[in-house]
Amino acid sequence: MKAIILAGGKGTRLRPLTHTGAKQLVPVANKPILWYGIEDLVEAGITDIGIIISPETGKEVQAKTGNGDRFGAHISYILQEDPAGLAHAVKIAQPFLQDSAFVMYLGDNLVQSGLTSFLNDFKARQLDALTLLCPVPNPTAFGVACVDDQGRVLKLVEKPKVPPSNLALVGIYLFDRVIHEAIANIQPSARGELEITDAIQYLVDQKSKVEARQIQGWWLDTGKKDDLLEANRVILDTCLTADNRGDVDEASQLIGRVNIGAGSQIKNCTIRGPVAIGENCYLENCFIGPYSSVASQSTLINVDLEHSVLLEGAKIVDIHQRIVDSLVGQRARITEAPQRPKAVRLMIGDDSQVELV
Ligand code: TTP
Repeated sequence: MKAIILAGGKGTRLRPLTHTGAKQLVPVANKPILWYGIEDLVEAGITDIGIIISPETGKEVQAKTGNGDRFGAHISYILQEDPAGLAHAVKIAQPFLQDSAFVMYLGDNLVQSGLTSFLNDFKARQLDALTLLCPVPNPTAFGVACVDDQGRVLKLVEKPKVPPSNLALVGIYLFDRVIHEAIANIQPSARGELEITDAIQYLVDQKSKVEARQIQGWWLDTGKKDDLLEANRVILDTCLTADNRGDVDEASQLIGRVNIGAGSQIKNCTIRGPVAIGENCYLENCFIGPYSSVASQSTLINVDLEHSVLLEGAKIVDIHQRIVDSLVGQRARITEAPQRPKAVRLMIGDDSQVELV
């Protein structure tokens, strides 16, 4: 069994961050989203992994993630020239996949439950495709499946006006090689993409063995800012362990689960967990509230921050109002606020500068 992880795409919903960086590398609890998927696959015993990359962000994904040694996997990179759809990504991955059955994992998705039981089911029942489902309150925003009481997929609909169920398609799929034949038989959709739902529907129409299973626990699609903050909150809530490898002075207070990376200096700060601080950060006179992740090399002086994600090398100085629900790009600078508005909400791209005056 092999796997492909889709880390190309346009990432329009996370602009401006995705003008300069890959959305799959945005950190959640200070770890790139993409890496959670790799770890999930390796845990399920799949170590031959192809990552689909785009010309714009592929080099960054490759440089950061490497050849797989750190995960105990072998990673190949597959360039997709245009983001022409999920099924298109499978098509260009065919030389890598050959005749192997495989998992297709969307690189911006996070799930709580492991993959092992689904893999076992897929193999034992010799399925052609297995889709994973999660109940959602707003099925009109997703691909939705209609499933019979034995778990067989009857029909898939993209963003239905009248949803046949509340079961959304999670971004993880298991396929046998027949999916390639299905993809060869579909046409681009109205938005010009080769849709994986159309390929699966083709299999259903051909009476192939297509089943679905409901996942347990949370599923997070990190495509938008608020989803990403929610993913950060959930991961910090469920996975973070307290650990201090930094240098915290006596005037500072760490409350609850706070994880501080090596080389970070914390002076006269109150940090109320769950909070993740990366390596080589400098924090002075700050309050860092719950559900915040501060990536490595960041500097925060006289800042009050809560429920926010800062990317690498962010610098925030002398902001006297609380920063909440914010996503701050790599190396972004936020400085100076002599007056005191009540709060600010920000989404700031890489290399941008914001002055609150
Ligand atoms: P989407 O979130 O559906 O698409 P997108 O990345 O283009 O984002 P947006 O809607 O904000 O413009 O993609 C899901 C995952 O699949 C994501 O990790 C990107 C990846 N992908 C590819 O690798 N190739 C593709 O052709 C497409 C459409 C997506």
